[in-house]
Amino acid sequence: MMHSTDKLLLENKAWAQEMITDDPEYFSRLSDIQTPEFLWIGCSDSRVPANQITGTQPGEIFVHRNIANMVVHTDLNLLSVLEYAVVYLKVKHVIVCGHYGCGGVKAAMDSHSYGMINKWLRNIKDVYRYHRDELAGIEDQEQRTNRLVELNVMEQVMNLAKTSIIQKAWSEEQRPDLHGWVYGLHDGLIKTVYDMPAGTHLDPLYEFDNLKQ
Ligand code: CO
Repeated sequence: MMHSTDKLLLENKAWAQEMITDDPEYFSRLSDIQTPEFLWIGCSDSRVPANQITGTQPGEIFVHRNIANMVVHTDLNLLSVLEYAVVYLKVKHVIVCGHYGCGGVKAAMDSHSYGMINKWLRNIKDVYRYHRDELAGIEDQEQRTNRLVELNVMEQVMNLAKTSIIQKAWSEEQRPDLHGWVYGLHDGLIKTVYDMPAGTHLDPLYEFDNLKQ
């Protein structure tokens, strides 16, 4: 009997074969060096694959995904990915990409307990609270969710800018630019919702003044 994972392995063989048929040096070239220009922080949702929706190839985007594309300051996984991408890979752009209809964002808006996941969703509830006045004015539930998706992306971009990792790179090398995007499941299109070019000033409360070498 064939398991569904066997199909993945068969597809993998076919894909690898196809790649070297088109370009015999493909894997030897990629295995030598990794120089992606972009770090992608996206949702784990299976419908939002970074490479496919941006038409990029292996080697072009460094990817981190979690529920609702969050930038949480105590998340050692996210911070390690960010530091590696910014300091060692020297990416030029960091993209936070949310998506309309995000289940994580929806879950954060209701009052159901999801167990351990509550701790993660609480970060999204905080975003709701910061923007409660605007969100309360939107009657349609789906529209309100989608606006929170956009506001959440904006807050996560700001969370990136609050890190010493980003601020140090900004002051020393004028990179990376930060981008907040939202992907539409219904049309496959990405909407840009918030941009923070390298060197943007934040609330002084968050700016460190001792990061220059
Ligand atoms: Co999602």
